[in-house]
Amino acid sequence: MERLGTETAFEVLVKARALEAKGRDIVHLEIGEPDFDTPANIIDAATDALHKGFTHYGPSAGLPELRETIAQCVSETRRVNVTPEEVVVVPGGKPIIFFSILALAEDGDEVIYPNPGFPIYESMINYVGAKAVPIRLREELDFRLDIDELAGLINNRTKLIILNSPQNPTGGVLEERDIEAIADTIGDRDIMVLSDEIYSRLIFEGEHHSIMSIDGMKERCILLDGFSKTYAMTGWRMGYGVMRANLAMHVARLMTNSNSCTASFSQVAGVEALRGPQDSVDKMCAEFKKRRDLMVAGLNEIKGFACLLPKGAFYVFPNIKETGWRSKKLADALLEDAGVAALSGTAFGDFGEGYLRFSVANSIENIEKALDRVGEWAKKSL
Ligand SMILES: Cc1ncc(COP(=O)(O)O)c(C=O)c1O
Repeated sequence: MERLGTETAFEVLVKARALEAKGRDIVHLEIGEPDFDTPANIIDAATDALHKGFTHYGPSAGLPELRETIAQCVSETRRVNVTPEEVVVVPGGKPIIFFSILALAEDGDEVIYPNPGFPIYESMINYVGAKAVPIRLREELDFRLDIDELAGLINNRTKLIILNSPQNPTGGVLEERDIEAIADTIGDRDIMVLSDEIYSRLIFEGEHHSIMSIDGMKERCILLDGFSKTYAMTGWRMGYGVMRANLAMHVARLMTNSNSCTASFSQVAGVEALRGPQDSVDKMCAEFKKRRDLMVAGLNEIKGFACLLPKGAFYVFPNIKETGWRSKKLADALLEDAGVAALSGTAFGDFGEGYLRFSVANSIENIEKALDRVGEWAKKSL
C-alpha cells in the first residue's frame, strides 16, 4: 500500500473547505471538473430509465446498446472500425487506467508516462511493482513530448506507453505529426499504448488526433474516453475503454471482480449523451475558451508568472520560476494568504516543479476575483 499514490486535488479541496468552515472566502481553481450541470436531455434519460426498471445488475462489460453506440462513435471520430466486443464500459475514465496497468504491467516491466501528468498513472505503475519511466513534457514544445527523448526511453522491458492529449495538467495537445512520429518510434515492437483521450472534445485550437487512427496501431492501443468532462457528468461515474476483444474480455473480468457493472440507468443516459444533441458540449467548450483567454492574459500581467495559451482541456499551467518560490510553497501561500486554491505543479510529478495548475472550470467572475487576489498577493509578497 505504501507504493500507492494519490490525487492531491482532493486533499487541497479538503484544506480549502476547512478554511471556508472558519469563515474564509476561497476561490476554487483546484478541482478538474466542469462547473456546468449535466445537460437536461441526459438527466431526463436517466430518470426515465430509473422508472423503467434499469435498477438492476447488467453485463460487466456494459449494456449492449451503449457498447454499440460507443463503437459507432469511436469508429467515426477515430476513423477506425470498432466493434462492440472491443468496448468495455466502466465507472469513469479512471478504472481504465487502473485495469490497463493492472492487466499489462508487473515487476520487471517498464511503463513510460507523461510527467507532469495525471498522478494516477505513476501511482498505479508503482503499485503493480513496475518501473515508472517519466517522459518530460517540455514548455518549450508547448508541453508536447520530445520524440527523440521518447525513443531513448524505450527498451525491451517497455510494456506500455501512456499518452494523454489534450493533457492534464498542461493543456498541451499532441499534433498529428507527433502522433505519427510516436507510432513510428514504437514501430512493430510489442508495446501497448494507453491513450487517455478524456478531454478529446475540449479542444480550442486545431483538432484532436488519436494514435488509434494510425494504421497498425489499433491492435496495440487502449483508448480511454468517457462522459465526465465532455458532458459534465463527473458524479455519474461513466467512462469506457476501447481495446482488442481478447484484452477487453480480461478487463471485463476485472470489472466482474471489482464493480460487477457500471450503474445501469447511467448507461442508458450515456446512450442519450452520445446520440442526443451535442450543442451543450460546444457551448461549454466556447465558455472554457473565454475563461482560458481571461486567465492566461491575467496571469501574464502578474509579476513572476508566465503562462502559455493551452490548446485544450480546462487547465492553465503557468511557469512561476521567476517568483523564486517552490511550487508547493507558492500554492500553499495562495490558498492561505490570498484565498485562491490552485495545485502545485509537483502534484503531477517531479517535472511539475516551477509551475502551478489552475482549473478554469469556474465562472468569469470568480476567475477575475482570483486574478485580483493573486495579483495583490504578488505585489505584496514578491
Ligand atoms: C487525464 C485524466 N484522465 C482520466 C481522468 C479520470 O476521469 P473520471 O473522473 O471519468 O474517472 C481525469 C480526471 O481528472 C483526467 O484528468
